[in-house]
Amino acid sequence: MATIRDVAAKAGVSTATVSRIINNKGQATPETVARVNAIIKELGYKPNVVARSLTSRKSNTIALLVPTISNPFFPELARGAEDLANAYGLNIFLCNTDDERGKVTNYLQSLKERYVDGIIINSLNLNNEDIEDLHSNGIPSITLDRAFATHEFSSITVKHREGARLATKHLIDVGCKRIGIIRGPEDDFTAVQRMWGYRDCVKDFDWFNQSWIALGDFSVKSGYLCMKELFQRHPDIDGVFASNDLMAIGLLKAAHEWGRKVPDELAIVGFDGIDMTQYTYPPISTIRQPIYEMGKMAMEELIRLINEPNSDPSKVELDVDLILRESSMR
Ligand code: RIB
Repeated sequence: MATIRDVAAKAGVSTATVSRIINNKGQATPETVARVNAIIKELGYKPNVVARSLTSRKSNTIALLVPTISNPFFPELARGAEDLANAYGLNIFLCNTDDERGKVTNYLQSLKERYVDGIIINSLNLNNEDIEDLHSNGIPSITLDRAFATHEFSSITVKHREGARLATKHLIDVGCKRIGIIRGPEDDFTAVQRMWGYRDCVKDFDWFNQSWIALGDFSVKSGYLCMKELFQRHPDIDGVFASNDLMAIGLLKAAHEWGRKVPDELAIVGFDGIDMTQYTYPPISTIRQPIYEMGKMAMEELIRLINEPNSDPSKVELDVDLILRESSMR
């Protein structure tokens, strides 16, 4: 494989000159630039990307931190970001953090060392200092979805509380009299907002108390287990808002095992709008987040921040909508 020395020797210039030409740093005549580029092509020389980023402090790479790619929500988000990045000739590092603090800090440190051009962060376990540190190292970032959005940098989130209100109100409108919620993790900002949206709609009913709230963790299994818990506590439950789609899928199995017909005896609404909810039996009504677009928008904003480092951040809160399907159509 050809090296930078081979190119320099054949072109009759120093390796520093070849490096400057590769990194568009000027200080070479147009004839030298043309000669060096022709030789690079002829020898099939591929610059070492890591070495190159050490000198240029740019790597043409964007990192995306997500909690887990096991939930189809996050691959769809990543796809939106990646498609736009590719259109701009940028590469993506995809980092699964499992929302663990240790993994988040390790990734942020190693991404800084690799001179990524920017980072999209979707993680609960992030704090203000992390974002400020990136900023002071010249790495723009944007938080997306799960991460808190009360910082002064760019962020994209959706109207979680309003979405949960839409879901719960719909269950009331189709005639449900006892509605429970399977909420997401206690420390998750999105889960907390959705729980408040549910409470807004049921808090004044005399049957309502804390026992109608089951604590899930956004996994299919927790949807299944929490639904069993709700059936045991409240055999008269006839409607449930699952605060994400995976939990709604899990609870369908519990309803089946409990002998409850969906939607006639138990109406269900999920949250997210992942594709899979169209293919369950019955298909699941859900609050749709514009998942792919959110990934794309985050990348768009990051590219803007990279190109205009001194510009103002942008804070976006997107609308969600209710998709009606058989699981709640009585
Ligand atoms: O399904 C995963 C959930 O985690 C989504 O609802 C998303 O908003 C994130 O917070």
